[in-house]
Amino acid sequence: MQSHLSSLKDKKIELISSSEKETVSIGEGLSRLLKPGDIVALVGDLGSGKTYFTKGIAMGFGISPDIVTSPSFTLVNEYEGKIKLFHIDAYRLEKEDFLLTGLDEYFYEDGITVMEWADKWPELLPEDTIWVEFEILDENKRKITIRGLRDDNNRKAF
Ligand SMILES: Nc1ncnc2c1ncn2[C@@H]1O[C@H](COP(=O)(O)OP(=O)(O)OP(=O)(O)O)[C@@H](O)[C@H]1O
Ligand SMILES: [Mg+2]
Repeated sequence: MQSHLSSLKDKKIELISSSEKETVSIGEGLSRLLKPGDIVALVGDLGSGKTYFTKGIAMGFGISPDIVTSPSFTLVNEYEGKIKLFHIDAYRLEKEDFLLTGLDEYFYEDGITVMEWADKWPELLPEDTIWVEFEILDENKRKITIRGLRDDNNRKAF
């Protein structure tokens, strides 16, 4: 069983998005695989599509994508849909503040947590975190790599 799980862990899905709309759809596709308690860690440069992807995840849970914006003035945005969605952006956060305000406790909530700039402190993230990497290929093209999915039916979502 253990070896089965670890082989699934090594699986990665690589997708090319050619527009922000496509990135939203890919996020929506991922939402279908998520379960309460899951953590989705987003990694990629400024403007690579992390927030658009989060809009897609939100849509998958019946949350309007319009209310999904990077939480710059609050530490965390909480959206109420079929499930609670917590949206954290670590870009301007200091690790001490993150820990002092107890933001890591969201990782153990029953909702789903999406964290932009999650590679700032990867050591704070649980081992079963789903990692999504965004690479800017050109003005409108992004390569999106998803790692850490547990289901072996994962390709059906995309
Ligand atoms: N294929 C694409 N997918 C997503 N965004 C795209 C794509 N092509 C162009 N864009 C543009 O790139 C920008 C992505 O913005 P977004 O806020 O999602 O980035 P981000 O990774 O969250 O950045 P930040 O680190 O500043 O929060 C938008 O201006 C969007 O219109
Ligand atoms: Mg963003």
